Amino acid sequence: MKKIFTHIKILAGAREEAPLLRGNDLQKLPVIENAFLSVVDGMIDSYGKMNDLPSDIQKVSVEINCTGKCILPAWVDSHTHLVYAGSREEEFVMKLQGRSYAEIASSGGGILNSARRLEKTSEEELLQSALKRLEGLIKLGTGAIEIKSGYGLSTAAELKMLRVIKKIKEIAPIPVKATFLGAHSYPEAYKENHEGYLQEIIEEMLPVIAEEKLADYIDAFCEQGFFSAADTDRICKAGARYGLQPKLHVNQLHSVGGIEIGIENNAVSLDHLETLNEEEIALLGSFAGCSTLLPTAAFFLRMPYQPARQLIDAGAAVTLASDHNPGSSPSGNMNFVAAISCIQMKMMPDEVINASTINGAYAMGVQEQVGSITKGKKANLILTKEINSLPFLFYSFGSNLIDEVYINGEETKNVSLL
Ligand code: NIG
Ligand code: FE
Repeated sequence: MKKIFTHIKILAGAREEAPLLRGNDLQKLPVIENAFLSVVDGMIDSYGKMNDLPSDIQKVSVEINCTGKCILPAWVDSHTHLVYAGSREEEFVMKLQGRSYAEIASSGGGILNSARRLEKTSEEELLQSALKRLEGLIKLGTGAIEIKSGYGLSTAAELKMLRVIKKIKEIAPIPVKATFLGAHSYPEAYKENHEGYLQEIIEEMLPVIAEEKLADYIDAFCEQGFFSAADTDRICKAGARYGLQPKLHVNQLHSVGGIEIGIENNAVSLDHLETLNEEEIALLGSFAGCSTLLPTAAFFLRMPYQPARQLIDAGAAVTLASDHNPGSSPSGNMNFVAAISCIQMKMMPDEVINASTINGAYAMGVQEQVGSITKGKKANLILTKEINSLPFLFYSFGSNLIDEVYINGEETKNVSLL
């Protein structure tokens, strides 16, 4: 089946070489004005200027006339906690009353609150609620997603979460990667016995996860009051024995050495990065992996935004993701992530598109499949409404300027995952 998009006002992100972009290269967003794009069996087949449209193509294709509209690669959201039970708006109200994230966490709220709810929720219910969220996100333009465990915090509940993610992989029409985040918080029962929980992760959880192929990556929340740099190092090394590369939560609230540990352990990405000193920015500048910024978590927790411009100036491979989770970013809308990255972090629109597409694809190991308009990649595309220019997408934040999202070349307006 051949589909052809014609008269595209701007086709963005079309490139045959699609490397990870760092520093000034993040500005390089290839665009073709008045373009065509053809899709065969869900894959990108060819593209170019309308003037160069081969005449025989039109005869055999379904034509979608895109006059006035733009096409860009679908968003790649490389950091989410999409599987969770219930919600935490009562903590949201507590924060409005002046309590801090750390205070709420230390009084049994936060991650432990979500863990208590998850324990009581069945695999089927978790699956249904996550699929419902995912369906909404696909319609908002997300064309690939990473999902973490980490609200289980016991062998049984972590495995339950990871099995839910495995089912999502089978059902979802988009690429999904699973990250094991057993080291998200020390559970109540191990408050005084951290060593016991580390051993449970390493000796009980990991062997089963590897045996059942339940995870693609390993993660830890390296933070004061959570997992130390030494704990994180042990987790990374244990994951490496099963071939799991790290994607780590580092420097959200404090600098505790997570960046050095991540670099030493060959992390795919280092994520959050709200709190960085000069040396850490320089380290990320030469770090081979992705520096993933989660600006909606900073927005929601009213924290200083990540220093995107300094990181780009240092040469970092800045990547953007939503961090969708019930505590610090209860939204996975990548259009909003993109808008506040411009508005609050002063990233340029072209940088934001690259950081949310091709760099996101590298941050979850799906760069051969998605993240750019490249022949042979999946036709996971955002077709905008009629707009004057790409910056208009972020300038008019909060407006839904998506006309249609195509996944494997198919419209998703009526797609249902349930
Ligand atoms: O990425 N910071 C650690 N983990 C999540 C928040 C978890 C929660 O509050 O439920 C995050 O922001
Ligand atoms: Fe997170």
